[in-house]
Amino acid sequence: MTYDTRGFMTMQIISVVARKGGTGKSTACRALAVEALQAGLKTAIIDTDPQGTCLRWSQRRASMEIHAPHVEAAGPNLTSQAKTLEGRGVDILFIDTPPTALPVVSSALLLSTAALIVTRPSMDDLESVQETVRVASAQGRPFGVCLWQTPPDKRVRIVSLAVQALTDLVGTEAICPTTVSSSVSYQYAYAESFTVQEREPHGRARAELADVWSWLQRRKLVALTSYDTNVKASPRPRKRASV
Ligand SMILES: Nc1ncnc2c1ncn2[C@@H]1O[C@H](COP(=O)(O)OP(=O)(O)OP(=O)(O)O)[C@@H](O)[C@H]1O
Ligand SMILES: [Mg+2]
Repeated sequence: MTYDTRGFMTMQIISVVARKGGTGKSTACRALAVEALQAGLKTAIIDTDPQGTCLRWSQRRASMEIHAPHVEAAGPNLTSQAKTLEGRGVDILFIDTPPTALPVVSSALLLSTAALIVTRPSMDDLESVQETVRVASAQGRPFGVCLWQTPPDKRVRIVSLAVQALTDLVGTEAICPTTVSSSVSYQYAYAESFTVQEREPHGRARAELADVWSWLQRRKLVALTSYDTNVKASPRPRKRASV
């Protein structure tokens, strides 16, 4: 058996981070976890935010018997919790983080194979991205940045200003070329215990999220197959039952 430097065998761990509150971290976590689930990966979320948004969403789904990624609240030891999930066959774990500099965010990043930074296009949000990038880089974690809640009309100047500011900070490669538009569908989806792509499978939000998901793969922040480079890649995603 081969372990990587973090002590894990195969599980991918993606921390979704931003120092600013309300950027869309929890929404991104749920949406991307559902993308992973639909791609055939056994998927889990650890909710490290005391607000428990993802946890409540999954509890409501369970009571409605909607197929969902496994979601649990963060325990006292994130590493052993993640290892337990790996032992249960989870392929990909998303960690939803709070909008603070709490130690749990550093612990999550330390465990992660990659970080996704979610930011709105406003300059005050973007200023805080710098600190998040610094923390992720200090821990040697590959990361990507996704602009979230952008005006649906991408020609609005704030979008190009935000892209420019991010490019200056992290370079073009690290920025998701698709921005996720602001849409009231996200609020409806949460209220109905869905993700937006489940609620509106032919909608614009669904197409944008599919783009973000494929960009994460192109940037090698996620893989459809096992993270373990010692395991020969399987041509098709593995399918397993729920955790
Ligand atoms: N693309 C979007 N369009 C419109 N509203 C959105 C979008 N994404 C998220 N929201 C809404 O923005 C609010 C904040 O989203 P979310 O809870 O995901 O942010 P967060 O970064 O996790 O917040 P916190 O920092 O408090 O944890 C929610 O009401 C959510 O429904
Ligand atoms: Mg949140």
